[in-house]
Amino acid sequence: MLTREIVIEAADSVAAPYKTEGTQITFRDVVVKDRHVSMTVIGAAASAERALEASLREALAAAGAETVHCRFRASEAAPQAASSASAGAASAAGTSAAAGPVRGHGAGLEANPLLSESSGTHFIAVASGKGGVGKSTVTVNLAVALARRGKRVGIIDADIYGFSVPDMMGIEERPEVVNERVIPIEKFGVKVMSMGFFVEDNAPIVWRGPMLGKMLRNFFAEIAWGELDYLLLDLPPGTGDVALDVHQMIPQSKEIIVTTPHATAAFVAARAGAMAIKTEHEIIGIVENMSYYISKSGEHEYVFGRGGGGRLAESLNADLLAQIPLGAPENLATEPDFAPSVYKADTDTGRIYLEVADSVIAKCEA
Ligand SMILES: Nc1ncnc2c1ncn2[C@@H]1O[C@H](COP(=O)(O)OP(=O)(O)O)[C@@H](O)[C@H]1O
Ligand SMILES: [Mg+2]
Repeated sequence: MLTREIVIEAADSVAAPYKTEGTQITFRDVVVKDRHVSMTVIGAAASAERALEASLREALAAAGAETVHCRFRASEAAPQAASSASAGAASAAGTSAAAGPVRGHGAGLEANPLLSESSGTHFIAVASGKGGVGKSTVTVNLAVALARRGKRVGIIDADIYGFSVPDMMGIEERPEVVNERVIPIEKFGVKVMSMGFFVEDNAPIVWRGPMLGKMLRNFFAEIAWGELDYLLLDLPPGTGDVALDVHQMIPQSKEIIVTTPHATAAFVAARAGAMAIKTEHEIIGIVENMSYYISKSGEHEYVFGRGGGGRLAESLNADLLAQIPLGAPENLATEPDFAPSVYKADTDTGRIYLEVADSVIAKCEA
């Protein structure tokens, strides 16, 4: 059987010729599942990446791997080796990051109980092509609906630049640190971790690639999640670095893709779907948001067009899980536990989210 140990040994022997003087090539986040291998390669010279990847594939295929996903990162020792023009911004970000869980070391992901296969936690990444289609709204409300069904649920707000989950859920407090681990904030039975907790006054974040990966890793390693049935990840829009990171770090993650009914949105969302398929993440289904507006006389008005979600589902060979109408929750800022974006269970949209939760449970726990 192909094991992590075999993979690391094979990878190390392949990497030897690619080490130049003074450099070291290391492998991290090595995950082996059903002969699918993914890992992060640290410290290889950029010019050697392609050749190294080809050699790794070859060696691991010989060892029994069916697929191999490699992600390359610059050496850990020099993460701020950016051009001098941007060095100031990078180090400024480093300083503010020190307040949060973004401390230097990256704990081994493999050691994280949540990510081990025996944890039983179902990971669901919520993705979209475009921003503004309601990805975060869907993440939050699906999480709350799963909790209403009695599940233990967490959210990682992985939209590191555009974090919005705390605001949407009406979370104002900041997490505490106990025994060097950050305690996620719990609201409506959902444990939440967000970059937003560690940013002062909504200051912009200027981290670049490697830092983002570290951030995500810390969201697993340094957070006291406890036991979870579901961990939802609100991905940044599109198919960039963070989305790729998630695919690699959590090969067992499944995916929900959010779109509006508009043809363009669905077309762009198809790219997120293609990425999921390419990285062998099962697509649980499509959620079409802002599908129609219910007029006073009860008519459905299709203000953003029609059919985008259905066509996307068809093209990705996935189910259309729901069509969610336009209309913000009618919550009052004066009520206890106010959350601007969480639909109550006894509203039409709240019921639709409960149905989505039931479909997700049926698919994940079948
Ligand atoms: N079904 C809906 N009806 C009305 N407004 C919505 C709906 N879904 C989302 N919104 C609003 O649209 C905006 C974008 O939604 P958001 O969830 O932040 O999108 P994304 O995460 O994809 O960028 C937010 O202001 C949100 O409150
Ligand atoms: Mg969002």
